[in-house]
Amino acid sequence: MNRLIALYALPVLLLAGCQADREPQKTGLSETEMMQHAAESRAITQEFGKTLKGELQAAIKAGGPVAAIAVCHSKAPAIAQALSQKTGWDIHRTSLKPRRTAPDAWEKEVLLQFDTRQAAGEDPKKIEYYAVVEQAGKPVFRYMKALGTAPLCLNCHGRDIKPEVQAKLHALYPDDQATGYEAGQIRGAFSIVQPL
Ligand code: HEC
Repeated sequence: MNRLIALYALPVLLLAGCQADREPQKTGLSETEMMQHAAESRAITQEFGKTLKGELQAAIKAGGPVAAIAVCHSKAPAIAQALSQKTGWDIHRTSLKPRRTAPDAWEKEVLLQFDTRQAAGEDPKKIEYYAVVEQAGKPVFRYMKALGTAPLCLNCHGRDIKPEVQAKLHALYPDDQATGYEAGQIRGAFSIVQPL
């Protein structure tokens, strides 16, 4: 009897396998649609990263790391907000050791997965993850892109932070967890929620 069912199911499974472009039960989106959403999200994280890094480098050059903290403190959320308004998505950054924004349960799992992938030798620049998940009873497309720790980042996220930088960080973020990193580690990630 079992064997009969197995034989019966075989053509159905093969057929399902051929429909590579559709995964209706899992995501509600075709593979192509998933890739389109991911590409749009990736482009936005690149824009976010480029704008912020430009501001950060200019501020460090002009006034040193203490002055540059202001850029991260006010410009980073402002850029995120402007991009959120432009797209209608929720765009932010988060980390397992957050300075401002702690991860939600889904983000936490993805960040742990990112750390494992980085430890296994993957280049943080290429580490991303996306899925359709249910949020408040509705399907949403979620995308995360890892942010590696570059030498520049160590000014404010490293082990040997200058006392004046430390003091300013502590004044703005009394619960700061975002220090002690080494270059190459994953500092956090961009995170995007696209309503479907
Ligand atoms: C001049 C100091 C400074 C430098 C340099 C700096 N950051 Fe930050 N970083 C901050 C501050 C301040 C915040 C909190 C921003 C906020 O209030 O939204 C922050 C927040 C973050 C966050 C958001 C998650 C969290 O912890 O709340 C990420 C991710 C991040 N930084 C990554 C980086 C990376 C990657 C680099 C290097 C390319 C970098 N930072 C360089 C000061 C800095």
